[in-house]
Amino acid sequence: MYNLAGRVALVTGGALGIGFGIARELAEAGSRVIIADRNLEKASAAAAHINRKERAIEAAIALRLDVSDKQSIKQCTERAIGYFSHIDILVNNAGIFQNRLGLELEDEEFNRCLDVNLTGIWRMVQALVPLFRTQGGGSIINIASVGGRKGVDFASAYCASKAGVISLTQSLAATLGPDKINVNTICPGSISTAMQDEIKALRNQGVSNNRTPPVLPLAGPLTVEDIGYAVVFLASRYAKNITGQALNVDCGYMMN
Ligand code: NAI
Repeated sequence: MYNLAGRVALVTGGALGIGFGIARELAEAGSRVIIADRNLEKASAAAAHINRKERAIEAAIALRLDVSDKQSIKQCTERAIGYFSHIDILVNNAGIFQNRLGLELEDEEFNRCLDVNLTGIWRMVQALVPLFRTQGGGSIINIASVGGRKGVDFASAYCASKAGVISLTQSLAATLGPDKINVNTICPGSISTAMQDEIKALRNQGVSNNRTPPVLPLAGPLTVEDIGYAVVFLASRYAKNITGQALNVDCGYMMN
């Protein structure tokens, strides 16, 4: 239904989990995909998987990227532009959870979470907006979380970083609208990935008060593909007049 043929998308953290699901759906819609991840081995495997499925050598390529390192971003974006000569869609998906729960989190640990999840998006936008302006527009889609909508008792750094992503999205949308650059956020609910396993393991250590899973209006299960479908829609011409929004994709957990 959505045709992204001729477009090029860069997905940060695209090697695994939600990012890989997004990359697969973008490729399925006809976009070429740059899988940019700090784990180059997994990114290469993800790109090879897409190329096999799409039966095209250049449907996807893998590049090393660390969104917390400006030099790495410069190298990655220069190589990506050198390869495809344009990038039309930026999906800021790379993210980490905090490495432990509760009030004992040290400044350094708190800041690391913000640095990857929030400042990382800022750095990517700074690196690619000049290109988008030259090209006459583009789409930026940030992956926040329902944790950015409603704080949870064990994850202050993570939730603060994701609330920051929703706010940053609005400021960027206001700034970049005149350049025909749409900026939107998706807030996924809980999806089974390596990060979810990490969260479960931390919660089992007993810090969290919140042990009962919420009863959701839609039974789900919520999948990485569901986030990919929302990204494809927001990147498509059907969303050309949508900007500054945060879309919950969460089986109805949040309703605002
Ligand atoms: P994951 O941990 O399974 O995968 C994250 C990917 O990002 C990995 O490939 C990793 O190598 C990469 N990455 C991490 N730090 C990076 C960095 N500094 N630079 C480049 N790549 C980096 O995580 P998952 O679950 O797939 O999450 C993806 C995004 O979705 C994250 O932003 C996460 O906060 C968000 N999210 C996840 C939810 C879930 O339930 N899994 C729910 C709501 C939001």
